Amino acid sequence: ATGMHTAADAQGRYFGTFCDPGSTYWNDADFMALVDNEADVGSLTVSNSLKWDATEASQDSFTYTNPDKLVPYAQEHGYLIRGHTLVWHSQLPSWVSDVDDSSMADVIENHISNVAGRYAGQFYAWDVVNEPFADDGSWRSDPFHNALGDSYVTVALNAARAADPTAKLYINEYNVETPGAKSSALVALAKSLVSAGAPLQGIGFQSHFVLGDTPSTETLVSQLEQYTSLGLEVAITELDIRIEDTASSADLAQQQTEYQNVVAACKAVDLCVGVTAAGMSDKYSWVPDTFPGYGSALMFDESFEKKPAYTGVIDGW
Ligand code: XIL
Repeated sequence: ATGMHTAADAQGRYFGTFCDPGSTYWNDADFMALVDNEADVGSLTVSNSLKWDATEASQDSFTYTNPDKLVPYAQEHGYLIRGHTLVWHSQLPSWVSDVDDSSMADVIENHISNVAGRYAGQFYAWDVVNEPFADDGSWRSDPFHNALGDSYVTVALNAARAADPTAKLYINEYNVETPGAKSSALVALAKSLVSAGAPLQGIGFQSHFVLGDTPSTETLVSQLEQYTSLGLEVAITELDIRIEDTASSADLAQQQTEYQNVVAACKAVDLCVGVTAAGMSDKYSWVPDTFPGYGSALMFDESFEKKPAYTGVIDGW
């Protein structure tokens, strides 16, 4: 039968999901059967275990237990791997905030050369920089920007390129899926990096949507094309569409349409390489913890049954 990935693959794209051996679901065979299904999945993003607090909790001491489990699993299935993420303000150990400004570039370079270097040649892409902007389009005030200004992005990209010469290097961001100050700031950054010859290949659109507020296919296409017109590729990297509790059958039907619209936008843009969802099943979604009162954001329900959203993904391709 056609699955979410086989439908994508027929268009030369992938469909993928978050998957992390550090999560409890790694030992839930019924859940893992969804991730094992090569008809539905073609790419995996390690959702937590490659973040700074997981890989370098104390300075210059590195941990790779969980990503080292994911890599052979992905390779056995022929899945791409998206590395997530090297430089991000969140899930960052406190010691990084205490680094002297004059040492911050060295700290970034050491982190990236170790983490990206360990998996060199094995990852399709890296989210090198995650969420650089605040919602008003200003730079996010974080230890990296505070120490180095805008140049931390170039420091990180150059370090990632040196560590892994083949991974596509991405900047990944949210709330840039519709026009606005944050979207404009990211476009301006992409333009300046491309014109400076920085090693940037892609822009990731996280795409954490709320039912009823998901951008139209047309809006999303025009947002994606702002980058593909610069020669960059794009991807939907963390798709979910959350519903205010308790989801009705009308809500689930609306969610099907919205999933379809998002996937159709990727399909419509030649340089949109694929869509990754922020998980497979509502049972293990991050949504209820982070957005209390919301849930039902993914393609399979809490009992691992297909929701209408599943069909929406297939029909979008
Ligand atoms: C989320 C994970 O899915 C959760 O398990 C964790 O508790 C918090 O982070 N943007 C990102 C992702 O780039 O890394 C975040 O993932 C969700 C928001």
